Amino acid sequence: MNLFIIKLGGSAISDKSRPLSYREDWVRSLGNLLNARLRTGDRFILIHGGGSFAHPLALAYGLSKYRDYDQLVGISFTSAVLNYLSMRVTLTLASVGLPIYPLRTGGSIYIIKDGKPQLLIDPMHMIELISRGVIPMLYGDVVVSDEGFSIISGDDLMLDLGAKLRPSASIFLTDVPGILDTNGNVVRELTERSVINERDARHIDVTGGLMRKVRSAIELARYTRTYLCAIWDLGSISRIFNNEEPINCTRFLPD
Ligand SMILES: Nc1ncnc2c1ncn2[C@@H]1O[C@H](COP(=O)(O)OP(=O)(O)OP(=O)(O)O)[C@@H](O)[C@H]1O
Ligand SMILES: [Mg+2]
Repeated sequence: MNLFIIKLGGSAISDKSRPLSYREDWVRSLGNLLNARLRTGDRFILIHGGGSFAHPLALAYGLSKYRDYDQLVGISFTSAVLNYLSMRVTLTLASVGLPIYPLRTGGSIYIIKDGKPQLLIDPMHMIELISRGVIPMLYGDVVVSDEGFSIISGDDLMLDLGAKLRPSASIFLTDVPGILDTNGNVVRELTERSVINERDARHIDVTGGLMRKVRSAIELARYTRTYLCAIWDLGSISRIFNNEEPINCTRFLPD
């Protein structure tokens, strides 16, 4: 079985400079590709980010760090908006024929313990879902943590599930064709020693921005081929499914 874990980044499914903006066309085009691959036997687990649905709310209520009671209603709003986004992605993908099985990350699947994501269910449950033909889909969410509540990012979920399930490849999808160097060119291979700069971003990201993503991806590369591609670069994504190197995209390499 060829298993691929794919993160539909918040930047891939929403315009992070515009609150509550959903990129249905990009999601649908990716869905058509995944549907064709599913029929040839490839298997998928999807994770999506919060994008312009969750980050602005999480920032407004200071949810990266739990302090007091007044934040609890912010947890309700953020959870609701994430669930709503997850339903939108589910409906778009199901309407092109993909049997998405949406799972709510907070509540019963993940908590943060000793500062690290802790999976509350047996990882085999994911494999059992896949073997029944569906595509489990999780998302970055507000979860119970050591100090109260905290945010688990989709990138953290990629690392944790990738290390446990060892897929054929893990792919981070965003709105840009790879990690970009200071001239705007795609860095084709990236290790801990590579020097990259976060470009001036007009959007909000409460989960540590690009550097944190890059660190997670490099660590994930110890367990699985790991790439960052644009959601619209279907040619490159297909090549990764074929076990070939993509035309664009950044490949992360462990040190
Ligand atoms: N040097 C860089 N190379 C590539 N992308 C960069 C760079 N600097 C900033 N970015 C921005 O980082 C964004 C991707 O990271 P970000 O965390 O915002 O999105 P995401 O992880 O897809 O969203 P979410 O956290 O909601 O899942 C891209 O939209 C891009 O504009
Ligand atoms: Mg992010």
